[in-house]
Amino acid sequence: MMRIDIISVVPNLMSSFFEYSICKRAANAGLVEVVLHDLHDFSTKKHKQIDDYPFGGGAGMVIAIEPLTRCLDHLMSERSYDEVIFFTPDGLVFKQGLANQLSLCQNMIFICGHYKGIDERVREKYVTKEISIGDYVLSGGELAAAVTADAIIRLIPGAIGDESSALTDSFQDGLLAPPVYTRPASFEGMEVPEILRSGNDKLIEAWRHEQAVKRTMERRPDLLHD
Ligand code: 6GU
Repeated sequence: MMRIDIISVVPNLMSSFFEYSICKRAANAGLVEVVLHDLHDFSTKKHKQIDDYPFGGGAGMVIAIEPLTRCLDHLMSERSYDEVIFFTPDGLVFKQGLANQLSLCQNMIFICGHYKGIDERVREKYVTKEISIGDYVLSGGELAAAVTADAIIRLIPGAIGDESSALTDSFQDGLLAPPVYTRPASFEGMEVPEILRSGNDKLIEAWRHEQAVKRTMERRPDLLHD
């Protein structure tokens, strides 16, 4: 079973997310366990303080080294981890290929940054991968960690009802997904493409591929040139 330990200063931000949908189904099926940790629980300060002023001055606070390493050492003494991932805007931009790779891991630790970040020495000593989910700034790493966990968990065999579904997602073959339709076949004069109702699986497959290529050329030509 996969285990993801998420360290955060606001773990409640993510708790409801993991109690719904595919993540919940995967947890119920015993495929994954997501464990949220409140960094404040590892503080030895009076008011459970976990941040401090940056050396050299400047705006914003920095997550201190002691509570974070205490939490990491505690987790790492209990089991071995394949990856310790820090979520940060200066990390590697998250793509489907990395989700596929991480879906093969057993145990992972996700560290959510906040404020101005975490003490650089934690990154040097513990972190094995640094991930950003795109070129924009979030208030913290929690949403990035949830996005990444979701993308990974849905790839675990059995997490999605229809086993083949994850393989036909956008990006999984380097293309965007083709358009989809459901009943009614005719709605206010708009018709479902005849071919999808032909029952000819070979033709339908070819049509879907053609549409996927067309859509990718129109919307994301960059995906075709990598
Ligand atoms: Cl991982 N963290 C923050 N704070 N902002 C981000 C991000 C991560 N990825 C994109 N923007």
